[in-house]
Amino acid sequence: MAGTAELDYPLVNGLPALREALAGYLGRVRNARTTPDRVMVTAGFAQGLSLLCEALPLLGIRTLALEDPGHSGQRRFIEQSGMHTVPIPVDAEGIDVDRLRESGVRAVLVTPAHQFPTGITMSPQRRRQLVDWAEQVDGLIIEDDYDGEFWFEPHPRPSALQSLAPGHTVYAGTASKTLVPGLRLGWLVIPDHLSHLLTRIRSRHDLGSDGITQRAFAELINTGMLDRHLRRVRSRYRSRREVLLQAVAQQLPQAKVIGSSAGLHAFLQLPAGVDESALVAAALRRSVLVYGAQRYQFAPGVRPAGLVVGYSSLPLAGLSAAIFAVRDALDEQAPGARPALRELPVTERTGVLLG
Ligand SMILES: Cc1ncc(COP(=O)(O)O)c(C=O)c1O
Repeated sequence: MAGTAELDYPLVNGLPALREALAGYLGRVRNARTTPDRVMVTAGFAQGLSLLCEALPLLGIRTLALEDPGHSGQRRFIEQSGMHTVPIPVDAEGIDVDRLRESGVRAVLVTPAHQFPTGITMSPQRRRQLVDWAEQVDGLIIEDDYDGEFWFEPHPRPSALQSLAPGHTVYAGTASKTLVPGLRLGWLVIPDHLSHLLTRIRSRHDLGSDGITQRAFAELINTGMLDRHLRRVRSRYRSRREVLLQAVAQQLPQAKVIGSSAGLHAFLQLPAGVDESALVAAALRRSVLVYGAQRYQFAPGVRPAGLVVGYSSLPLAGLSAAIFAVRDALDEQAPGARPALRELPVTERTGVLLG
């Protein structure tokens, strides 16, 4: 039951009950090092990022380094806020910290648990290097832990990067993948020296997040319902990922799935010579929406073709059918290609993949 306090104007940083629940939860599941007063509840990561883009220039930081490939929507969002961005390449261990250092920036946005979109998990050495960089340049790491709750590898998932350098990291989490994006619920874990600044900026944006949603989410955490929900959906997503990988192995043996078994999407690397945009268009003609790797690439230059394939919202049978259709689409590019085997009507959308 919500009492008078929950129905009054909420505190701008979030309901104390939720901040306390989140501090405990993030410590338990992501090993984050925080106290409730360092947690700010936001309208998803989008609002957290918007607050940070307003705060950084006040600290003399006008450029934010981004992983390349990365989230093109986020890049646009950051640039529209007036910040500059500089793309830093990602290799098999994560962001290239030498290149980051050379760029001379003092702030970077990373997805260390499951790089977006490649799915690579940042190696322990690279995590250490990144933290050393942040300490040396007195910089800031923004850790976007957008799907860190979904981990299907047999070995334990790495802790939040924030646990290595809480004074130099803003950790960002969201309910968009664990529950639904429409909730617009996220949270930041903020280093001490940024706390007042971000609160001041936030209070110019709004008067805090919806108190009833916050109360409900605190209850989900405190009663263990969130844990139970996550156990259930994790097992569902794990099965979907397995079926997807099986279908890829059978139908698209020339494709290589890179990155960790985690999150809600997979990244398929395709052999050199594949015309990625023709493949995406041919898949769409078969009612399968996949995104080409090009969409996420920032620096100019030719890279191997790839596809980002989301599997969270498709039933198992739909996944195999979608990969079958991608294979069929790819076959169109073979010399002397045979015609499409089976064109699905557009209403029979078999694949709705990640944006
Ligand atoms: C890379 C990445 N970061 C963060 C988010 C979450 O953003 P928000 O919390 O604003 O929905 C998403 C989308 O779910 C994403 O793809």
